[in-house]
Amino acid sequence: MREIIAETNRLQLCVPTMDDLDGLSALWSDAETMRYIGSGVPWTREQVQERIERAIGFCADKGMTFWTVVEESTDTIIGQGGLVPISFNGDEIELGYRLGKDHWGKGYATEIARASAAYGFDALNLDRLVAVCYEQNLPSRAVLKKVGFRKLGQSDVYYGVHALLHECLPYDLVR
Ligand SMILES: CC(C)(COP(=O)(O)OP(=O)(O)OC[C@H]1O[C@@H](n2cnc3c(N)ncnc32)[C@H](O)[C@@H]1OP(=O)(O)O)[C@@H](O)C(=O)NCCC(=O)NCCS
Repeated sequence: MREIIAETNRLQLCVPTMDDLDGLSALWSDAETMRYIGSGVPWTREQVQERIERAIGFCADKGMTFWTVVEESTDTIIGQGGLVPISFNGDEIELGYRLGKDHWGKGYATEIARASAAYGFDALNLDRLVAVCYEQNLPSRAVLKKVGFRKLGQSDVYYGVHALLHECLPYDLVR
């Protein structure tokens, strides 16, 4: 039985568990999907397992993480998305999302971003979110813009890469 943190019209954001390993490993082993994530290299099953362990820990300690995203109509794991603390830059909280490529172009990332940001502002009382994406990742930039994130400019503080930093304050969020 999954523990659901937030629901959208079509998706459930769920507390991660090790039962998600097969589903997430299948998604994150694909090179095209991972092109704009971190250093752009697909993740091995072991790397996905480490990240799920970390996500479970964040959830327990901080009440937030990149939750496992399930498509309600098919009960299928389609990706991850949510909020994570960026420990290397003060108390900033980052919004992020990633979907398996079979699930792109359906408006799902926009639903995940809205639900995650709303949870952050309403349930966790956060007063600011940041989001970082590669300049070339036009779909991700479009998602952030639709949801109300403002582009602040280039930064190389995050993850050691040159990327676009965005921020969203509670009243900016397009729900
Ligand atoms: C980026 C990603 C999350 C987008 O997910 P998605 O569910 O397809 O996004 P949505 O359908 O909600 O919205 C995408 C928007 O980008 C637009 N878009 C798509 N391709 C585009 C392009 N080449 N140029 C400009 N806009 C583009 C779409 O038209 C849509 O906007 P609209 O609703 O105004 O038409 C998904 O492609 C993904 O998971 N990619 C791999 C991982 C990744 O890059 N994650 C983000 C890291 S920052």
